[in-house]
Amino acid sequence: MSGETSLVIAIDGPAASGKSTVAKQLAAELQIVFVSSGGMYRAFTWWVLENGVDPADTVAVEALLEKTVFQCGEENNIGTIAVNGRLPEWKQLANDRVNGGVSLVAAIPAVRLRLVDEQRAYARKRGVVMEGRDIGSVVFPDTPYKFYIDASPEVRERRRRAEGIDDSIAARDKMDSSREASPLVIPKDATVVDSSHLTVEEVVEKVKEVIVG
Ligand code: DC
Repeated sequence: MSGETSLVIAIDGPAASGKSTVAKQLAAELQIVFVSSGGMYRAFTWWVLENGVDPADTVAVEALLEKTVFQCGEENNIGTIAVNGRLPEWKQLANDRVNGGVSLVAAIPAVRLRLVDEQRAYARKRGVVMEGRDIGSVVFPDTPYKFYIDASPEVRERRRRAEGIDDSIAARDKMDSSREASPLVIPKDATVVDSSHLTVEEVVEKVKEVIVG
């Protein structure tokens, strides 16, 4: 049971599908908090690397997790995560090093358990739009507002290149979809939106139509 009492909008999808931009805009319009759960996995991966731990060394990552305290909050309606008192900047989270390790770290069940707890805590405070891979399937299975935002692999690669980020999204997608713990899936009652040929505003409108009814 996720036990949420506030409005919870769950948006899942593969890397660079546009879900983050859409979720952010939606949260701003609805005046609720936007949370990137991928950013939370990235923050812990950053901490793993800062500590010289190999993201592929599950035992060492779990040992570090034991000594790690997360503090989740928000700033200007955007979720923040501090790791042992340090608040990483976005550029420390969205770079080749973190991109290369995050799928390994996110595949560790103990890591997911800790961060899913933090994700659910947001909804106990107030409304939230959260995006990720397992938000509708695992984190908030009870919310009626589940979306899966997709885009073709070509469009997604192009979007990342346009951002100047060298991200092997095909490899990450494969790991994120094939792992045992909470893989990327389309929740069975989710509304699927293909954003390949839509603007951000068009996707936001489609999502709002479902929410307003
Ligand atoms: O959305 P993103 O690309 O910032 O996510 C980074 C990684 O975090 C992604 O490759 C898989 C992992 N992730 C996850 O396992 N579960 C989530 N709910 C969100 C992200």
